[in-house]
Amino acid sequence: MRVLGIETSCDETGIAIYDSDKGLIGHLLNSQIDLHVEYGGVVPELASRDHIRKITPLTAKLLSECDLSVKQLDAIAYTAGPGLMGALLVGATYGRSLAWSLGIPAIAVNHMEGHLLSPLLAQGEKPPLPFLALLVSGGHSQIILVKSIGDYELIGESLDDAAGEAFDKTAKIMGLGYPGGPALSAMALAGKSGRFYFPRPMTDKNSFDMSFSGLKTYARNIIETHSPLSEQDKADISKAFEEAVVDTLLMKSKKALEEFAIGHLVIAGGVSANSHLRQQFDALEEFKVYYPPLEYCTDNGAMIAQAGCHRLMNGDTAPLTIETRSRWPISSL
Ligand code: KG4
Ligand code: ZN
Repeated sequence: MRVLGIETSCDETGIAIYDSDKGLIGHLLNSQIDLHVEYGGVVPELASRDHIRKITPLTAKLLSECDLSVKQLDAIAYTAGPGLMGALLVGATYGRSLAWSLGIPAIAVNHMEGHLLSPLLAQGEKPPLPFLALLVSGGHSQIILVKSIGDYELIGESLDDAAGEAFDKTAKIMGLGYPGGPALSAMALAGKSGRFYFPRPMTDKNSFDMSFSGLKTYARNIIETHSPLSEQDKADISKAFEEAVVDTLLMKSKKALEEFAIGHLVIAGGVSANSHLRQQFDALEEFKVYYPPLEYCTDNGAMIAQAGCHRLMNGDTAPLTIETRSRWPISSL
């Protein structure tokens, strides 16, 4: 079975083809960073307009690169949520129309399930089921028990900002640019550990829930106290902030792994690209950690095509209405 995947939930137009026997056949991505950079964040209206502009040429280019025609596709999978409504509607309308014109199924994919399964795009050893997953993106920070593909139990989540959102907002306060996560992380490389210390929120609580908005406020206070900031100040604050976020994620994940007596963890979503996070989690000798390949950590079409293919193989295709959801908890799947 060959599935075309379409991702348009935020500021990346991603198109991919996934084959149930051969795996990922090809993918293309158009990032809108240049379009949003001057606003310091994603402007939803601009995002939707750019998806409309890019989606058809990108699909045509991918089919041509893969030497395939639309007639050789068995299904179209599109991100149906969660995400920006206007942006989602572009992929949903395009995907469902294409599927209807070809007489093939259209599959509504949950974006977070796409991220969750993205480590399966890596070559080599796959995480055995059941496993625990730490999903850390710009919109979500969640710990999920994956009993089987499609059967997910939410164990804990951020009660306010997602980890990626805290990275983005703190970077913005320091004037590090957009997207903030990679910018702050690059800044932290030159930072000295120990000059500043941020709290590890909610790590004294017995639950797996998290909270990251306080770290941003804490950063704002330090920044105001030390302004104007030198480059070294920015690096040291970035380092302390990054260490606090990663430590918090590490403590919560470790607690969950111990409590559920599971020896392996999947980490996915944009923040899973963070090098300090990977170093710290890889140092856990008692647990094995699986990540997506770096190019599939942030939003992409490959993870949607793959998740769509899993759904197709399970006979799970969407109803024949155009359906998108700005909120769509993964535990409701
Ligand atoms: O998964 P993703 O592309 O989009 C959502 O589904 O939200 O994640 C984007 C988030 C942004 O907040 C971005 O700043 C963060 O992932 N991110 C990073 C890094 N790369 C991306 N955060 C920290 N370190 C990174 N290297
Ligand atoms: Zn995402």
